[in-house]
Amino acid sequence: MTRIFSGIQPTGRKHLGNYIGAIQQYVAGQDRGEAIYCIVDLHAVTVAYEPAELRRRVLDTTALLLASGVDPARCVLFRQSDVREHSELTWLLTSVTAVGELNRMHQFKSKSAAQRELVGAGILFYPVLQAADVLAYRADEVPVGEDQREHIELMRECARRYNARFVPDGGTTGLVVPEHRIPAVGARIMDLQEPTRKMSTSIGGDEGRIYVLDEPAAILKKCKRAVTDSENEIRVGPDKPGVTNLVDILAAARGTSVEAALATLADARGYGDLKVAVAEAVTDMLGPVRERYEALRADEDAIEAALAAGAAKAREIAAVTLHDVRTAMGVGPLS
Ligand code: TYM
Repeated sequence: MTRIFSGIQPTGRKHLGNYIGAIQQYVAGQDRGEAIYCIVDLHAVTVAYEPAELRRRVLDTTALLLASGVDPARCVLFRQSDVREHSELTWLLTSVTAVGELNRMHQFKSKSAAQRELVGAGILFYPVLQAADVLAYRADEVPVGEDQREHIELMRECARRYNARFVPDGGTTGLVVPEHRIPAVGARIMDLQEPTRKMSTSIGGDEGRIYVLDEPAAILKKCKRAVTDSENEIRVGPDKPGVTNLVDILAAARGTSVEAALATLADARGYGDLKVAVAEAVTDMLGPVRERYEALRADEDAIEAALAAGAAKAREIAAVTLHDVRTAMGVGPLS
């Protein structure tokens, strides 16, 4: 059975890009294979943060996933730091990761430039921890948005290099080289105010982002104010980033292709109609999530219990990989 792994940061409020690019795929993954999802609190300490807030945000993000349909009865859902194997494998993988590759990562460049005080070494090592997340489970597929393509390429390279160096006979104890699973529509949702830049919690203002927990009125307002162009012609293309983004969102929210979404707009009188259609589709998609969220978030004991049960299952899988890696690398006694 296909093993699927993905991780999500407990930072900031989750937005439409996270939902369409990743969370929707997590939910679908539960029907396609053995799904393992992780709230990556160790990644969150690579930039400035507040400890108490981090702990809260792990619970926020977990409740959001549960409200979206991630179901601990049908997947493994856990907090990264609960499974120590991730940290150990990160260190071991540094032996097959080139510093030059880490230095060239786009996210490293932009995140290190954005730090006001300390540029922690964790920003550089971030992709190695991400590689360890996936490789510890020998996952076949990694559902992510387009912005993670580079990180997936790096983990593939780590796995290949590890196998060539430590499992040269190609036996079953090697690491699995994972494939990314980037959605056909909505892999890169853009900021509504600056549609040439991806929707992101770290840059831009709230007007450009739709949050998963936004009320319908806020969604409508943000859609109506979305930046388009002066043509009033509904078509997609590189010269029309704002309209293209809105049509992409419409298609992703309705679960159709871009062509099908355009066909439903044949009678639209212009961008006003397009924006209202987008707001309706997004509200239909996110409304049920918002309605379920509050009750789930209120029960912190239930969230912690679900995470602990998930961690126990995750550890069982990761421990086997770590045993193989330690053995192959000559680390620790033979057992
Ligand atoms: P994070 O938490 O920043 O984002 C979570 C997921 O949301 C996707 N995403 C988007 N998709 C479409 N349009 C956008 N504007 C948009 N913005 C974000 C991201 O691609 C991601 O899939 N490094 C990862 C977390 C991680 C991880 C892993 C992912 C840690 N370990 C192992 C996969 C496998 C991150 O920062 O995600």
